[in-house]
Amino acid sequence: MCGIVGYIGTKKAAPILIDGLLKLEYRGYDSAGISTIENNCLSLLKDKGRVKNILNLSNFDTLSGTIGIAHTRWATHGKPSKENSHPHFDNSSTFSVVHNGIIENYNELKNFLIDNGYSFVSQTDTEVIPNLIHYYYSSTANKDFLQSVKMACSDLHGSFAIEVICKDFPDNIIVAKKDSPLVIGKGEHENYIASDIPAVLKYTKNFYFLQDNEFALLSENSITFFDNNLNEISKDIKTIDWDENSADKNGYEDYMLKEIYEQPDSIRKTINSRLLDNGTFDFTDLNISKNYLSSINKIYIVACGTAMHAGLSVKNTIEKLCKINTEVDIASEFRYRSPLIDKNTLCIFVSQSGETADTLAALKLCKEHSAKTIAITNVLGSSITREADYSILTYAGPEIAVASTKAYTAQVTLLSMLATYFADVLNRCDKDIVIDLRHDIVSLPAKLEQTLNSCNSIKDFALRVYNEHDIFFLGRGIDYSIALEGSLKLKEISYIHSDAYAAGELKHGPIALIEDNTTVITILTDSNLVKKSISNTQEVITRGAKTLIITNQSLPNYGFDTIITIPEISEYISPVLAIVPLQLLSYFISKEKGLDVDKPRNLAKSVTVE
Ligand code: M6R
Repeated sequence: MCGIVGYIGTKKAAPILIDGLLKLEYRGYDSAGISTIENNCLSLLKDKGRVKNILNLSNFDTLSGTIGIAHTRWATHGKPSKENSHPHFDNSSTFSVVHNGIIENYNELKNFLIDNGYSFVSQTDTEVIPNLIHYYYSSTANKDFLQSVKMACSDLHGSFAIEVICKDFPDNIIVAKKDSPLVIGKGEHENYIASDIPAVLKYTKNFYFLQDNEFALLSENSITFFDNNLNEISKDIKTIDWDENSADKNGYEDYMLKEIYEQPDSIRKTINSRLLDNGTFDFTDLNISKNYLSSINKIYIVACGTAMHAGLSVKNTIEKLCKINTEVDIASEFRYRSPLIDKNTLCIFVSQSGETADTLAALKLCKEHSAKTIAITNVLGSSITREADYSILTYAGPEIAVASTKAYTAQVTLLSMLATYFADVLNRCDKDIVIDLRHDIVSLPAKLEQTLNSCNSIKDFALRVYNEHDIFFLGRGIDYSIALEGSLKLKEISYIHSDAYAAGELKHGPIALIEDNTTVITILTDSNLVKKSISNTQEVITRGAKTLIITNQSLPNYGFDTIITIPEISEYISPVLAIVPLQLLSYFISKEKGLDVDKPRNLAKSVTVE
C-alpha cells in the first residue's frame, strides 16, 4: 500500500516522478505529492485525489530540480486530505520524507517531539519521521544527514520504506526500509527508487533490493549501501527481464482487460520455465528428496485473497496425487491460530506481489517452527521470496490492475505443476493420472486462447445483470474454489454484493435468499460432481433464479438462462479456464456501471500493512 518513487540525476525530476507515480497508483490513490530541491530549498506539491491532480497544479512546471521524492497514498492514519498527503516536512523545512508502511509507536514519538517543541500539521503517523530526523540532526554538532536518518529509524516501531531529502544536501537521497518494499534502479548518471519495479522499468532494468534495516545513500553517480550500524556493505545488482511495455496498457482500455488477454502467454511462460524435454516439470532446485517428502505429515498452503483461492484449487490435487494431508489457510488467520507446525510440515506461501504483510508474517512463523518453506511469487527479489527457504516464480509479468487475474491462473498452473512433481517423487498414485494432468497443463495456453474466443455471450449477460444487488456463485469440489474466486472478482470491481456457496450447502440456509429473478452462477467442471451441482441449480431455478452456467461438459439445457462452454480439460486444472468468463463478467459489469476497473474503491494492489 502506498507507492513511493525517487529520482536523482541530470534530468528534471518532477516529470519522472509523476510518470513513476502513475505506474504505482495501483498501490494507493487517495492522494499524491512530490518534493524536489531547487536552489537549496525544498519544494512541495501535494493534494488529495489522483496523481494527475499534481500535474494540473499551476506551479508544477516551476519544479526544475534534478532530485526529488514522490508518493501516492492509501490512507491509514488520517483521512485523505492535502495535509495528510506525503511528502511531509519537518518544522524547519529542512527535511522532506515519503513513507510507505505504518509507524506503530507514532503517538509516543509525537508526544516526545511535542515535549521538545515540535508541532504537527497532519494526523499521519509519518510526520514524526522528518521531525525526528531533524531532532537528531540539530542535536549533533556535525549535522550528519545519514547518521540522523539512522538514529530516527532506530526509534521507529512498525514497517517503513522511506525516502528522505535534505535542503542542506541537495545532491543526495537517503532511503531505508523495514518490512515494506523498496527497490533501487541504477541508470547512467542517474538513479531511481521505487516501491515496485514497473514504476521505473522504462528507465532501467538493473535493480538493487534493499533488505530490512539497511540504508542507501544515492547521488547522481553512486549508490552506497549500509547495514544497521552504518557499516558500508556491497550488494549484487539484478537484471529484470520484464518488457517495459508489459507495464503499459498496450492499446487496451484498461490494465485488467489487457491482463485477462495476456493469460495464454503468461501461462505459456510459466509452464516453459520448468518444462523438460521428456514432458515432466523440473523442480529439482527445491532440493526435495523422496525421503523428505515421505516424512511430510502435512502441507500448508498459506495466502490471502485470490492467491488463497489458487491454493484452494490445488488442495484436492495434492491430496489425491500425493496422499499428503493438505490445508489451505488465510494468512491473517493462520498467523494467530497457533497452527501445528514442525520440521515435518511443508509450508507453501502464494503471493503475486511477494509483499503481503500477513503472508510474510505467516512465513516467518513457520520458519520459527523449523518447517521447510517455499514461496510462489510473481516478483523476483520480493520480501517473501527473500524470506522463504526456496522460491518459485510465476511468469505472469507485471500485474497492475488491482483485481488479480493473470497472476491467479499462473499460480494455479504452477501449483499443479508442483503437485505432479511431488507425485512423481512419491509414486503413490496411478502414473497415468499424473501423465494425463501434465498433458492437460501443457495444453492450457491453446485452450485459454479458445476460451477467450468463446466468451462472446458473457457481455450480453453482464448487460442484463449489472444493476443487481446480489449475485450468487455455486460449485462443488474444485468448482467451489472457482466460485469463490469469481465472487471475489465481482465484489472487488463491480461493488455488487456476492457470495459463493458450496452447492450442497445451499439447502442448509442460503437458499432462503433466492427469490424471483435472483442471479445464480453455477460452475460445472468437476465431472464427479456435475450431476449433483445440476440438481442444486435446479433447486434455485424452481425458486425463480436466472442462471448462468460455466461448464466444460456437454449438457442438455435444464432451463438454464445462459451457458458458456469452455474447452474440455481435467477438473484438476479447470480453474485456469473456467475463471476467464467470470473475470470478463466482472469486467463488463464494472465498465457498464462506469466504475474504475483498475482502481476499485478502498483497495490497493499490494497489502503491506496488517
Ligand atoms: O500480492 P498477493 O497475491 O499476496 O495479494 C493477495 C491479495 O491481497 C490479492 O489477491 C487480492 O485479493 C486481490 N485484490 C484479488 O483480486
